[in-house]
Amino acid sequence: MPDDPLLTTLLAAVAAAPADVPLRLHVAELLIERDRPGDALQHCSHVLATEPSNASAVAMLERITALMTQPAEPGPAPAEGFDWRHAEEQVADIPALSIEEPATPSPTVEDIERPSVRLADVGGMEQVKQRLEIAFLGPMRNPALAKAFGKSLSGGLLLYGPPGCGKTFIGRAVAGELGANFFNVGIADVLDIYTGSSERNLAGIFAAARRNAPCVLFLDEIDALGQKRAHLSHDSSMRNTVNQLLSEMDSLGGDNEGVFVLGATNHPWDIDSALRRPGRFDRMLLVLPPDAPARAAILRYHLRDRPTSGIDVDRLVAATEHYSGADLAHVCTTAAERALAASMQAQRLQPLTTADLVAALGEVRPSTGPWFATARNVVMFANTDGGYDDLAAYLRKHRKL
Ligand SMILES: Nc1ncnc2c1ncn2[C@@H]1O[C@H](COP(=O)(O)OP(=O)(O)OP(=O)(O)O)[C@@H](O)[C@H]1O
Ligand SMILES: [Mg+2]
Repeated sequence: MPDDPLLTTLLAAVAAAPADVPLRLHVAELLIERDRPGDALQHCSHVLATEPSNASAVAMLERITALMTQPAEPGPAPAEGFDWRHAEEQVADIPALSIEEPATPSPTVEDIERPSVRLADVGGMEQVKQRLEIAFLGPMRNPALAKAFGKSLSGGLLLYGPPGCGKTFIGRAVAGELGANFFNVGIADVLDIYTGSSERNLAGIFAAARRNAPCVLFLDEIDALGQKRAHLSHDSSMRNTVNQLLSEMDSLGGDNEGVFVLGATNHPWDIDSALRRPGRFDRMLLVLPPDAPARAAILRYHLRDRPTSGIDVDRLVAATEHYSGADLAHVCTTAAERALAASMQAQRLQPLTTADLVAALGEVRPSTGPWFATARNVVMFANTDGGYDDLAAYLRKHRKL
């Protein structure tokens, strides 16, 4: 289509921002108008692969399907043969859709993706990787062996630690290791105490995870299940929700359904104790602020696409103990803004330097302090069953206890 500047520009924009859903849908719409349903289908499929319940995309898919299945009008033969096999391949990996029963408007289905990150992409944090391997990945990869040793595959693993320190990132890497999909759900959004549909929401989520197996179901903010119950002491709906989650987890049985549950929380001490019993979230994994190699990896990652000159990563690593991964990202953005301002003033590109980053460190302070203050109290007064021994050891090592 040589003479379609609008479309050409928009296609270039899609190539530059492949995850921009509204843009993709807009392009697909234009392609339909231009009688190119096959190409429209490609963009629509792309959206549905990441947002299976996107209502506009679902409606569009129906329209495209109708267009493509219309009997060819008698008369002029179609200009070009439509490649049905190719089209089928394009839609093959769209998660099952329930077009007739409109998907419950659920704010929970953030994303189902197939991550390519692996544990090797997680910088440093050797202890976490080792524990993951022994407690989770190894048994999942060797189910027969695990069974012989009486190791149950059921139950989930709970990642906990200060905010922004890599829980979600590690969850994604676990999915990458297992070659599984990654389904990220904010449990706080599932809870619907007013209409009592939390249980239905949960059932829908587990069903979606099963449909997309193998799948790592990442339940974020799982502490919401304890906290709200404590605040609403007469509330039975929260108890029902906890029970529903437990029975969904039990019914997975860990065998061959290929759904692996990971929970994440910044406040494990707020979680309903029923969830922490054996066979449930009985294994906890502490995810601490990034150690030196992790900080180096995170800094390199956030600087990789920015113009830089002679960055002294070691110096920055030494100056950023207690910074979370999110803090480090913020430091890099702040430094980039400084370099950009300098470039605009000089009217030529001034690459980002170590000095910019050091100056940014003065502006961005580590955000993990308040978390450790709470953690310290928990370890001192509530570590009765030794569940927080890892945390206690870390606090002692860093003289926070
Ligand atoms: N070891 C690491 N190697 C590389 N990148 C990391 C590492 N740890 C964290 N990051 C990066 O740090 C950022 C924050 O991590 P993430 O969002 O996973 O934290 P989180 O613990 O899930 O935070 P929250 O508690 O806010 O949900 C991400 O950009 C992630 O890519
Ligand atoms: Mg997270």
